[in-house]
Amino acid sequence: MRRSAPEAWRLYFAVLVDGEPVGMQDLVGQNFARFGTVSSFSWLAPGSRRRGLGKEMRAAILHLAFAGLGAREAGSDAFGDNEASNRISRGLGYEPNGTDWDTRRGEPGLIQQWRLTRDVWERVRRDDIELTGVEECLPVLGIG
Ligand SMILES: CC(C)(COP(=O)(O)OP(=O)(O)OC[C@H]1O[C@@H](n2cnc3c(N)ncnc32)[C@H](O)[C@@H]1OP(=O)(O)O)[C@@H](O)C(=O)NCCC(=O)NCCS
Repeated sequence: MRRSAPEAWRLYFAVLVDGEPVGMQDLVGQNFARFGTVSSFSWLAPGSRRRGLGKEMRAAILHLAFAGLGAREAGSDAFGDNEASNRISRGLGYEPNGTDWDTRRGEPGLIQQWRLTRDVWERVRRDDIELTGVEECLPVLGIG
């Protein structure tokens, strides 16, 4: 965790495969105590893509958000042609939640927005993801 306050926090997780760092998965909360909403961002080294890791990382961070922190809703955004990110969102139960525009390499690009509610997550939640050390973090994040 690099920076945190109850109103705005961003948790940075390293993704390790056999002890080697291959990517990162972030979880972001803006006014989490009020809205219960989170968003996420991920990146994998090119050589570690397309092996299912991206989906595992997202499932893990969603488990932290919903089971660990009590989130109500998770959002995700990706450029419309980001097949990997958009497929992960759809596959984990997110529903399309509109579009927006952002700049990519100096050009406008269409962003696809996604939304996963707690109800839907409860129906697809995994039972093989273990959380540790969450309790100690709650006060720092303004939860509880
Ligand atoms: C987004 C990212 C983390 C996804 O991780 P990944 O390990 O490559 O994804 P997965 O292997 O879990 O694949 C997820 C799904 O996307 C599909 N997919 C992955 N890469 C794809 C590609 N280049 N083209 C088409 N489909 C692709 C997979 O087949 C899989 O589909 P399925 O769930 O229907 O079987 C990774 O691609 C990445 O780091 N990209 C660059 C940074 C980025 O775009 N971050 C997200 C910004 S929001």
